[in-house]
Amino acid sequence: MKTIIEPFKIKVVEPIRMTTPEQREVYLREASYNVFLIRAENVLIDLLTDSGTGAMSSEQWAGVMRADESYAGAVSFYRFKDRLQEVTGFEHILPTHQGRASERLLFELVGGPGKVVPNNAHFDTTRANVEHSGAEAVNLPIPEAADPRNRHPFKGNMNIPALEDLIRRVGPERIPVVMVTVTNNSGGGQPVSLENLRQVRRVCDRYKLPFFLDACRFAENAWFIKLREPGQEKRAVREIVREMFDLADGATISAKKDGIVNIGGVLLVRDEKLFQNASNLLILTEGYVTYGGLAGRDLEAMAQGFEEVLHEDYLQYRIRSTAYLGEKLLAAGIQIVEPPGGHAIYIDAKEFCPHIPPERFPGQALVCGLYREGGIRAVEIGSVMFGGPGRPPPAMELVRLAIPRRVYTQSHIDYVIEATIDLHRKRQSLRGLRIVEEPPALRHFTARFEEL
Ligand code: F0G
Repeated sequence: MKTIIEPFKIKVVEPIRMTTPEQREVYLREASYNVFLIRAENVLIDLLTDSGTGAMSSEQWAGVMRADESYAGAVSFYRFKDRLQEVTGFEHILPTHQGRASERLLFELVGGPGKVVPNNAHFDTTRANVEHSGAEAVNLPIPEAADPRNRHPFKGNMNIPALEDLIRRVGPERIPVVMVTVTNNSGGGQPVSLENLRQVRRVCDRYKLPFFLDACRFAENAWFIKLREPGQEKRAVREIVREMFDLADGATISAKKDGIVNIGGVLLVRDEKLFQNASNLLILTEGYVTYGGLAGRDLEAMAQGFEEVLHEDYLQYRIRSTAYLGEKLLAAGIQIVEPPGGHAIYIDAKEFCPHIPPERFPGQALVCGLYREGGIRAVEIGSVMFGGPGRPPPAMELVRLAIPRRVYTQSHIDYVIEATIDLHRKRQSLRGLRIVEEPPALRHFTARFEEL
């Protein structure tokens, strides 16, 4: 059988609401051309993020009912801990309310002024947490990552010579941790190879540096390794996942991605002292160590989600359905980051709107166009997200169509394809924007724009 189907059937449905182009014009203006400020009920297909937007399974909902809400030592905590231990092999496991809470704990403890944190590509919250601690965040992607057309199979890889250069230049004592983000979210949802992770490990060993994963999309990354890395095709995804974690000294995880839950995060560490310090900080600001700011039901949902995400029929459907969207757009002459990523398709906004220069935010113009055209909500990953006073312009101007897990069917995706192609035909009508109001950090969430 050639057709890869959704490996589930639908038990509960939630209506979505069509709006008219006139209504969308008003909503967009009221939101100052920032789709984060649009009410979700006025969005038809929401591709803003794959984070916390997945559909939980009947087993996860059963866990929600079964959950133990005890303050300390809840059964649900141990179920969560056992599952995470089984999947990752880590002994020390802390639940947190989401990925950035894990990042905040980590960087409050290891960051600080004068420190430098290398990463293949920091996501926005990771960068913000590194910088909030006073440290400097440095991206070290391989050169291929900056070319949307380059079909390198592991475009998320860390640039190993650049990592060694940085360590020698600033000195290992200023580097508290080397991080690798799997998959690389800001650069196209591209995977990192096992070989590259092993090389990072060797560099870290040479300079005695801790190696941490930002492991939000660890299962999608492992699936790509199975598909693309020579010698890995026969291994079970669980084994590949285990090897990825075995290479690391710690990890921050947003369970809202491959944990397939609506809220939750994890901090994994091997170092006893760091674990104690993180536990103390967790109690101070998040909650007791056996719930980390979550309810018992959230821990149950995570325990089950971290199991389901490793099912290979799920991963095959997940990665194939993302590729389907990407291939159809490419076939229509719309440049995306190639090859298609795991959780999202990234449209090259520079190519889509060559008449809009980066300082007028071509990505944001495209985001507004997609909402106007089809009520589709996407997110800009370019000069709005990463630019700003004192920051170099990013290498690419991208618009991300992130696919929530198990939520939309193939006909929803066909609708997105149609709307994007229709917009592409009249792309000359897209207009640049300027920012009229912005906060000091993470400006894309709340900035207000004006069309030019
Ligand atoms: N790291 C990566 C690679 C991420 O993609 C995210 C979140 C985080 C850390 C932070 O996790 O949201 O649970 O605090 N990415 C979401 C996105 C927001 O839309 O890509 P969080």
